[in-house]
Amino acid sequence: MADREQTQFDDTNKIKSISILLKTDLRKQLYQLQFVLAEQIAEINVDDAASDSDEEAAAASEQEWKFWRTQPVTPLGIKVAKGKNGPIEENKHIEQLKQEPYELPDGFSWSEINVSHDEQLKELYTFLNENYVEDNDNMFRFDYSMPLLQWALCSPGWTPKWHVVIRHTESREIAGFYSAAPIKIKVYDKELPMIESNFLCVHKNFRLRRLTPKLIAELYRRVNLSGIFQGVNTAGVLLPGVVGKCLYWHRLINVEKLLSVGFTQLGRRMTLQMMKEMYQLPKTTRVRGFREMRESDIPKALTLLTQYLKTFDLSPVLTQEEFQYLCQNRPNIVRSFVVEQENGEITDFVSYYHLLTTVLNHQQHKTLNICYLYYYAASRTSLSDLINDCLVEAHKSDCDVFNALDVMDNRKFFRQLKFGEGDGILNYYIYNWQCPRINSEKIGLLLL
Ligand SMILES: CC(C)(COP(=O)(O)OP(=O)(O)OC[C@H]1O[C@@H](n2cnc3c(N)ncnc32)[C@H](O)[C@@H]1OP(=O)(O)O)[C@@H](O)C(=O)NCCC(=O)NCCS
Repeated sequence: MADREQTQFDDTNKIKSISILLKTDLRKQLYQLQFVLAEQIAEINVDDAASDSDEEAAAASEQEWKFWRTQPVTPLGIKVAKGKNGPIEENKHIEQLKQEPYELPDGFSWSEINVSHDEQLKELYTFLNENYVEDNDNMFRFDYSMPLLQWALCSPGWTPKWHVVIRHTESREIAGFYSAAPIKIKVYDKELPMIESNFLCVHKNFRLRRLTPKLIAELYRRVNLSGIFQGVNTAGVLLPGVVGKCLYWHRLINVEKLLSVGFTQLGRRMTLQMMKEMYQLPKTTRVRGFREMRESDIPKALTLLTQYLKTFDLSPVLTQEEFQYLCQNRPNIVRSFVVEQENGEITDFVSYYHLLTTVLNHQQHKTLNICYLYYYAASRTSLSDLINDCLVEAHKSDCDVFNALDVMDNRKFFRQLKFGEGDGILNYYIYNWQCPRINSEKIGLLLL
């Protein structure tokens, strides 16, 4: 029976590439071309093992990297020696830094935005809602709700100075945006202050005008002036500075809706009914003592998480204030649970966040409600039991599909809990840092 179920599961496990969910863009098509090119390169020079992968070798040779080759990042195709783990450029004194903003092309100007003001938050929300990451087929687009956006942009230590905006001077509409927030990062054996950057976006009408290099350079100019010289970020595209590559996995929940919007397809030899039964979840959680995390649990949950995150080569080092900000329960944004033993001891912690996705051009469905596995630490409960209860909770809050990257120990529960592998990629980057590549299961950092 188990074998038959597994076969059926494999058959249905063809989840369409929803690269929006995976932060990829049109360049995925390029990857395929790059593979072909890489094979040719490999034939010419089989012994040259300088690059980490064929696709990178191809990307390295394909592109000129007019901007990225001027930046302190490891070029694609270069393998960093084991044991190297440090900055590419040394920190500069404030007087050595560029004091004035970068010049913009005619017709554009730098501007401010303060997302603690509702009308400005709304303006940014609308800009991202209309222009942010889409999938290859333009079927889906991320929809960070206003509260989610505010939460993601305003973590402890945030400053409006690092919410970089370019406006079209005449119309005053937002033409580009990029943001950063401070975060302490552990990379291999070193811990240092960095920024995490996010929400890089150029208005559809102003693409291919080299506004992206301006946004990145200006963001780092401002960050450098605050004495920080490294940054982490993720992107679907493959660029110089990459330190790790992860894949998304998906646990289908609302099968009928996911089929209807084209997120997934009916497996061979499957009926809708069979597929619904396959992905049905229990109505109630199973782990004894599994309950929502309360404020009083925070120190214990943080201790568990800190211990766990130490075991990775790339992870955040969170203060209690940061942990509380990121993981305390917020309706429709983030949910956290703990397992409390009979003696009151907190032994396990797990969290996930909600991120809506706009379904473009669909008659019936306008939105997908997607949950993303966030931080967790399990000391007593098996990971698959813990995540299974998370799925039950997500289902109760109307989640259509539950996503997780193949980071941390996630691969240990994917098959058992019927997650299917997506075909999207999420690359991790560190700006101004040189270190060997980090395998996905050694990554313990999750960016929103
Ligand atoms: C990604 C996006 C900002 C690029 O804008 P664009 O107008 O196509 O590109 P520009 O002409 O402004 O700049 C091109 C440069 O940006 C780089 N670039 C493109 N996408 C990038 C990314 N996601 N991160 C960093 N650099 C990127 C290019 O490699 C190129 O630099 P190069 O000369 O060194 O190769 C734009 O397509 C967009 O807003 N997409 C939707 C949102 C999105 O996907 N954001 C990225 C999330 S990770």
